[in-house]
Amino acid sequence: MCGIIGYVGADEVVPVLLDGLRRLEYRGYDSAGMAVMGADEIGILRAAGKLKNLEQKAYHEPLHGTAGVGHTRWATHGAPTEANAHPQTDAEGLVAVVHNGIVENYVSLRKELQEAGVDLQSDTDTELIAQLLGREKGTLTERVLGILPRLEGQYAVVAVYRTEPDVVVAFRNGPPLVVGFGEGENMVASDITALLHRTRRVVFLENGDVAEVRADSVRILDPSGLEVERPVETLDWDAARVEKGGYRHFMLKEIFEQPDAIRNTVLAYLDAERRGVNLDGLGFSAEELSGLRRVHLVACGTSWHACLVGKFVIEELTGLPTEVDYASEYRYRQPLIGGDVLVVGVTQSGETADTLAAMEMAREGGALLATVCNSRGSSSWRLATSRMLTQAGPEIGVASTKAFTTQLVALVLMALALRSVRGLTDATDVELVAELQRLPLAVEQALAIDPELYRDGTEMLADATDSLYLGRGILYPIALEGALKLKEISYLHAEGYPAGEMKHGPIALLQEGFPVVAVAPEGATREKLIGNLMEVRARGAAVLAVSDGDAGGLDHVADLVLPVPRVHPLLQPVVAVVPLQLLAYHVAVELGNDVDQPRNLAKSVTVE
Ligand code: G6P
Repeated sequence: MCGIIGYVGADEVVPVLLDGLRRLEYRGYDSAGMAVMGADEIGILRAAGKLKNLEQKAYHEPLHGTAGVGHTRWATHGAPTEANAHPQTDAEGLVAVVHNGIVENYVSLRKELQEAGVDLQSDTDTELIAQLLGREKGTLTERVLGILPRLEGQYAVVAVYRTEPDVVVAFRNGPPLVVGFGEGENMVASDITALLHRTRRVVFLENGDVAEVRADSVRILDPSGLEVERPVETLDWDAARVEKGGYRHFMLKEIFEQPDAIRNTVLAYLDAERRGVNLDGLGFSAEELSGLRRVHLVACGTSWHACLVGKFVIEELTGLPTEVDYASEYRYRQPLIGGDVLVVGVTQSGETADTLAAMEMAREGGALLATVCNSRGSSSWRLATSRMLTQAGPEIGVASTKAFTTQLVALVLMALALRSVRGLTDATDVELVAELQRLPLAVEQALAIDPELYRDGTEMLADATDSLYLGRGILYPIALEGALKLKEISYLHAEGYPAGEMKHGPIALLQEGFPVVAVAPEGATREKLIGNLMEVRARGAAVLAVSDGDAGGLDHVADLVLPVPRVHPLLQPVVAVVPLQLLAYHVAVELGNDVDQPRNLAKSVTVE
């Protein structure tokens, strides 16, 4: 959602804040702002639109100071105007606040403040926090502790106070905040990507924590004001991984990083001989695992598509009935949760509000709780008993690519671990482990498709307003993911469908030139899919197919074939999604869209 950065140290703060915001811009980018602690006043700059507008303002209206906060916004309460941008201040300009999340008792607090004569300047819930802080007494930390019981909802807030120009106070309940420890400077941010170039020593704040950050000290308090200890972690991500490294877009870089990301994820979980997995019962006791009967996979967005593939993998390899739920649905239905269920929250960020709520519910229901996550130390990481880290490294492009393929790999590894604890291990495992090690090479081949073919594919899709993506079996979720990728960054409507269902509705859309993208590798369902594509052709629609090995009967029905190598059927989704990612990328570039920061989307959705 929104991105937050706070700094106290010796350096001029404006460049530090702008640099941090640039690294956080992927979290939200409809307006931005900063507060700089001057000698006797807080300087505020805010601008609607992308960060570059704030950068220009900062150039023309220079502010000086060595402490401050910055914010890049993804609007919830109030349109993305300058008035609604953060920081928000109280009536006197005593405090300034940046905020990520939602204050749920917004209506009653707003009414209360208005009745008390406060002239509110914005439509935001954030201003209410600033006004409440302004009306409290004492130091900034005391004021924060004073208003905490008044706030309902999910928030991460960083505040500054005119009378204490060398302090930044951060507090959270829901969205993440991480404190970074530097030399003679300390920072706080929504995520580590904003801190990596200055420090790797961090503390992840817990819900309810209040962090008082000064240049030479950080005090963390619980909501009652008692000091608490939080472990300082040293991160192994290096700052270069959050740079574009010569690529035009992060998304393109991340697509091409997939072979390495997959290799690292596989190797992290193989045993010393690299013939089996080394997951040690996924961290559960033998007793807990002996009662395991079912698996629930919960996630949102692209991660949900990984779960759909995971269902095929887990059921085939372990025989455990596996359900897949949107986290936002799971949390509001009455799933049958108990000690015999393994609930896995699959999440790139580890911070998606709905996924976390679903995981909390599973934990309360007594389920075994695991996460497949790309962010060590994130909320899902801390919530789960069993953790599998996808080794994708930081993913900055809003449209997820390498996080997705590493999730697919992690779910295969998890299924192999479950086989081992259930005593099912046989030659299949050795074969799959060998195939997993060959997978990065196959992905490299998929990345090497003749660019000419993408040019033709781009033309087919970019000229149309709608398209249909079809797949069957384990590749049906890849059709969904291909369509989602196109929608997210090209803003063209695309629908993913199981090919066999096409004639029960979507076939009505087909007409001359309507693009249909088919994920059609060889295997049990290919003949069926070719049958579906004949129906498509008979209506004059254009067919673009992703195919492995020999195109077989496909060349008669497809206008264009994007070839990918053949791999083990359970790993085919990893390879088949690659051309669909690149296709979406090329269409978005062709249409002149902002690939890395598509409109209205956010990388990490920390509100419900
Ligand atoms: C947002 C992102 C998607 C992502 C989804 C779930 O919608 O734009 O790319 O798939 O959140 O995020 P998670 O971090 O839980 O995987």
